[in-house]
Amino acid sequence: MTYGDVTALDDPVGSSLRGHHAHLGRRLGRAATYVPGVATFSAVPADAEAADWADLAQLLGGGRFADLFSCTATPPSDWEPVFVLDGRQMIGPHDGPVEPTDVVELGAADVPEMLDLVTRTEPGPFWPRTHELGTYLGIRDGGRLVAMAGERLRPPGWTEISAVCTAPEARGRRHARRLIGALTARITARGERPFLHVAESNTGALALYERLGFESRKPVTFRGFRTP
Ligand SMILES: CC(C)(COP(=O)(O)OP(=O)(O)OC[C@H]1O[C@@H](n2cnc3c(N)ncnc32)[C@H](O)[C@@H]1OP(=O)(O)O)[C@@H](O)C(=O)NCCC(=O)NCCS
Repeated sequence: MTYGDVTALDDPVGSSLRGHHAHLGRRLGRAATYVPGVATFSAVPADAEAADWADLAQLLGGGRFADLFSCTATPPSDWEPVFVLDGRQMIGPHDGPVEPTDVVELGAADVPEMLDLVTRTEPGPFWPRTHELGTYLGIRDGGRLVAMAGERLRPPGWTEISAVCTAPEARGRRHARRLIGALTARITARGERPFLHVAESNTGALALYERLGFESRKPVTFRGFRTP
């Protein structure tokens, strides 16, 4: 597989955990997962066998949540299904606009505000240490965080844009457009391309991403299970 090959996007969690995010994950055999507080995403290969599932169960512990993200392998029957959600994977443009000045970098000190914004907007999973996966950018209005977006999965040659959200009272002011543009500029400047995942039911976000030049690569099914 060459750097930036689209096949890296077939196993975005596993390829991130074997590469850029190795320091934020735990691995056993061919199974891998993020450390608690960063993400609940877990991965096994598409041809996973009983031993791989046993390794993942050992990594996670009994009765724990395993977010298999878009992994196509199906766990043994004693893994309890928790959720199934239709979505799609999209690939972004080759370049982004020059970063506008009202976009600021967010860090550990901003986590309470980031969590509050996520609670109000529900862009998808976000935990206290998720910002350690990459750069998170925000827009403030009168000092208050009203919009953010950041970098999540990092397969070789790619960076996933995630946690895109704008407070309800601040929508329609192109905050999401500027944040995604700023992230795209950073990602493409280091020779990578952006990609993202979105739920099929999230028609507003789909319209936003298509407007910004993202193209569908493939349908995905997000699935979560509880370990035996
Ligand atoms: C989706 C969301 C981030 C958009 O934020 P926003 O700051 O209002 O978006 P912007 O103003 O930057 O919109 C940029 C463009 O996308 C389009 N767009 C944004 N939301 C749209 C919607 N709901 N329906 C149709 N088009 C939309 C706008 O028309 C705009 O086009 P223009 O710049 O050419 O005029 C916001 O509605 C939100 O936080 N939703 C809940 C969280 C969520 O679902 N996040 C995505 C997770 S995958």
